[in-house]
Amino acid sequence: MKRALVTGITGQDGSYLAEFLLERDYEVHGLVRRSSLLNRSRIDHLHDNPRLHLHYGDLTDGVSLVNLVRMVEPQEVYNLGAMSHVKVSFEMPDYTASTNAIGTLRLLEAIHAARLECRFYQASTSEMFGSTPPPQNEESKFHPRSPYGASKLQAHWVTVNYREAYGLFGVSGILFNHESPRRGENFVTRKITKAVAAIEAGLTDHVELGNLEAVRDWGYAPEYVEGMWRMLQADEPTDYVLATGVGHTVRDFCEAAFAHAGLDWRDHVKHNESFERPAEVDALIGDASKAEAELGWKAGTHALDLARLMVDADREDVARLLGEG
Ligand code: NAP
Ligand code: GDD
Repeated sequence: MKRALVTGITGQDGSYLAEFLLERDYEVHGLVRRSSLLNRSRIDHLHDNPRLHLHYGDLTDGVSLVNLVRMVEPQEVYNLGAMSHVKVSFEMPDYTASTNAIGTLRLLEAIHAARLECRFYQASTSEMFGSTPPPQNEESKFHPRSPYGASKLQAHWVTVNYREAYGLFGVSGILFNHESPRRGENFVTRKITKAVAAIEAGLTDHVELGNLEAVRDWGYAPEYVEGMWRMLQADEPTDYVLATGVGHTVRDFCEAAFAHAGLDWRDHVKHNESFERPAEVDALIGDASKAEAELGWKAGTHALDLARLMVDADREDVARLLGEG
């Protein structure tokens, strides 16, 4: 039985990855942060699985990482934990760098110090390309536009460095935006689909958004976690882009989500400049041909289908809440 350690297991991707690995008979160890209220709703349904083990720790606490790596002795480590919100990273740049950049270094050093033969996945991001125009692939220039993007770029290079310096099987997965009904509620897709469901049910009449012109390449999170796993099963460690290859504006996503409920987005979306960023990433559209050729990975769900799928899930949530009320 393989043992995997997953940071960020309570997040969107961590929850899908935990499901995926448990289905493949892995023993899964997840790092969870202490909080005053339990924050595990995305993995509650896995709670009774005897192969799932949760441990307190934090990417800002090197000792917890050293102890955890030594205790678990994982064959695969997936470093998904991060302060993952681009706008918030402008408000918390120090914490963002400590968690995302130095946290990755702490984890890699814990693995190196334990002399473990283990494979390491780093959750890198298309935000590292920033202002480089699309299409972006593994060869494109990095030019991050936020403390988040810059912190992830450091983590990317640290992963590459441990691969080159110590022969670690370290992989940097450069993933473009991927969404799902489990997406955090302050990312734009979920904010929109949740608002559609609430407006349709008469709970509110509008949603406030920032820049509608940004272009993103939105894919479906469960497909992307399979891509992460495939990267660690490859013969050689290298870096891969995962993306759908199709770009849409935030406006397009709004239009599709509202139209799915028979609504016109222009009647319900208000502009609020406080949701704009000090520096925007205008357009991200990925070229994942390397992942397709070498891993047999290809995105199957595209943005506008995703909009409909997420609206349906949020409708069910609203119906359940109203039913309970
Ligand atoms: P997410 O839903 O925001 O989950 C982030 C996870 O990191 C949560 O489990 C969170 O714990 C944990 N975390 C935050 N700070 C931590 C700390 N100091 N120590 C330990 N854990 C910490 O993010 P996601 O969408 O699943 O993304 C997963 C990873 O992929 C992230 O690294 C993200 O930056 C990267 N990424 C995401 C996308 C995307 O489109 N989703 C694209 C490219 C890269 P709590 O639950 O306690 O907050
Ligand atoms: N969050 C948010 N809220 N974004 C808005 C809003 C709003 O009210 N209005 C417009 N936007 C625009 C943002 O300015 C951005 O251009 C776009 O919608 C997408 O924003 P997010 O959904 O917050 O995602 P992101 O692209 O900044 O970052 C996500 O994808 C990255 C990969 O490219 C996150 O998941 C990152 O962790 C990930 O690395």
